[in-house]
Amino acid sequence: MSETHPPVAAAIVLAAGEGTRMKSGTPKVLHEICGRTMLDHVLAAVRGCAPERVAVVTGSRREAVEAHLASSDSDALAVFQPSQDGTGHAVRLALEALDAGPTPLHGTVVIVPGDTPLLSATSVRALAAHRESTHVAGVVLTTKVPDPAGYGRVVRDRWGRVKAIVEHADASEAERQITEINSGVYAFDAAKLRAALAQIGSDNAQGEQYLPDVVRILVKAGDPVGAALIDDWHEVAGVNDRAQLAQARALLRDRLTARFMREGVTFIDPASVWLDVDVDIEPDAVVLPNTLLYGKTRIERDAKVGPNCSLTDTVVGAAAVVRDATCERAEIGPEASVGPYTYLRPGTKLARGAKAGGFVEMKNAVVGEGSKVPHLSYVGDATIGERTNIGAATVFVNYDGVQKHRSVVGDDVRIGSDNMIVAPVRVGDGATSGAGTVIREDVPPGALAVSMGPQRNIEGWTLRRRPGTPMARSAAAALDARAPEPAADADSADRENEASDDHSGDTR
Ligand code: UD1
Ligand code: CA
Repeated sequence: MSETHPPVAAAIVLAAGEGTRMKSGTPKVLHEICGRTMLDHVLAAVRGCAPERVAVVTGSRREAVEAHLASSDSDALAVFQPSQDGTGHAVRLALEALDAGPTPLHGTVVIVPGDTPLLSATSVRALAAHRESTHVAGVVLTTKVPDPAGYGRVVRDRWGRVKAIVEHADASEAERQITEINSGVYAFDAAKLRAALAQIGSDNAQGEQYLPDVVRILVKAGDPVGAALIDDWHEVAGVNDRAQLAQARALLRDRLTARFMREGVTFIDPASVWLDVDVDIEPDAVVLPNTLLYGKTRIERDAKVGPNCSLTDTVVGAAAVVRDATCERAEIGPEASVGPYTYLRPGTKLARGAKAGGFVEMKNAVVGEGSKVPHLSYVGDATIGERTNIGAATVFVNYDGVQKHRSVVGDDVRIGSDNMIVAPVRVGDGATSGAGTVIREDVPPGALAVSMGPQRNIEGWTLRRRPGTPMARSAAAALDARAPEPAADADSADRENEASDDHSGDTR
C-alpha cells in the first residue's frame, strides 16, 4: 500500500468526551471489549492506514487515559483539550500539537472517534487510499442506518455530491428523513483541513464547534468532499452506554467465532463462548458451550475444550481434552486430560498424555509424560516424573508457614491414596508408598514407604462405651450372627487403652 500511496501523515483519535451515559468511574474509552479497551481497538484500526504519527485528544478524566497510553506500547501523542468545545475544536488542538513537531503536517490526516471499537483496519485503510487516489479535500466514511436519530446526516446535492453534514439537532424535518449518516471517521488533506477549521463557528443548536462543518466550508469554496459508503453500519456504531457496550462485545465475539469457523474450528454453541482478540485456535479444535478464552490462550488442533471452562493465557496442546476447568497461565500438553472441576494455576505444565483429574488443583507443578493425578489432590511446587501415578486425595504440602518448598517425585512411582508429601522431599524412581503415608523424608529408588503404625482393633468397644445406641444394636446383631465364640471379655491391656483415650474417631 505504501508503494502506491505515501503514508498517512497522522491519525487523530477523539477521546475527550465525558461518556456520561456509561455512569462509570472509568473513562468511556477505557472500557474493555474482548480483552482490549475501546481506545486500543480504535488505535489498532487506525494502524490500518500506517499513519506516521498518532494523536489522542484527552479531556474528561485525562489522567487515566494518559496513564493507559503510557503503559501500553503505543507511541501516541496525548493532546489535552481543557474544555469539550466540540469535535472541531478537538481536531484543531490536535493539529496544532502535531504541527509543533519537527515539520508541519502535510498529506492525509485521518480522524476517528474513540468510541467506535468495531471499526476495522480495512475500512480505515480504504478511506485513506480513497482520498489519496481521488485527490479530494476530504472523504467522509458514511453508512446507512435503520434509525439515524442522533447522527449527523449526509446532505447531497441533486447530482449526488456531498454538500454538507447536518447534525440531528440542527436538521430540518426533511433532512431528518435521510438515513445516510456521518460515521465520524474522515480522511482530510491536512492543509485544507487546517484552513477550514479556522473558519468554523459555534452558532448551532449545541453551541459547539462541529468538525463536520468543515465539509460545508470546503464544498462552498469549490473543494469537493467525497463519501465512502460502507455496508455494515455496525462497524461504525458508537458506544455510549452499557447496553451498546454489550452489543459491541457480542458483535465482535460473533466476528471472532465466525473467522475461526471459516478456518475449521468447531463451536458447538458459539453464542455461549467468549474470547479475547489475541486468542488463537487451530483447525479441528472443538470448543464446547460456556467456554471463556482470555488473553493469549492457544488451543491446538483436535483439542476439545469445554463445557464450562475458563482459560487465561493457557496453551492446550493437540488432541488434549479440558472440561469444567479453570486454568491460568498453564501449559496443557498434547493428549493430556484435565477435569472435571479442576483448577490449574500459573506455572502448571502437563506433558504429553498427563492427567489432572476431578477436583485436582495444581500450581507451579510439572507433571511428566503419561503421569496421572486422577482425583481430589493438591499439587503445589512439585516436579513429577514420567508414568507416575499419584493416589487419590494426596497433598503436596509445600508451605511450612514461612516458606514454600519444592518436592520431586521420580519416574514410574506409585504414590498411595491420601499421602502427605511434605516438601522439600524426593521420592526416587520406581518407589511406592502405602495408603495414608506422610512422606517427610526422601524415599530411595525402588523403596516402599509406609509411615502408619500397625492397626489395633479394640474388640467390643461399642457395646461397652455406646450401649443402647443404634450403633450398639447393629454391632450386637452382627456379632450374634457370627460363629459362636467364647464370651468377649476384653483383656486388661485393652481396658488400659480405653481408659487413656477415647477412640471414637468418627466424623459427623
Ligand atoms: C458526532 C458527529 C456526527 C456523527 C457522529 C457519529 C460532530 C459534531 N458530530 O456526533 O455527525 O454522526 O459523531 O458517531 O462531530 N469529542 C472530543 N472533544 C469534544 C467533543 C467530542 O474529543 O469537544 C470526542 C468524543 O469523546 C467522541 C467523539 O469526539 O469520541 C465524538 O463526539 P460525540 O459528542 O460523541 O459526537 P456525536 O454527538 O456522537
Ligand atoms: Ca458519539
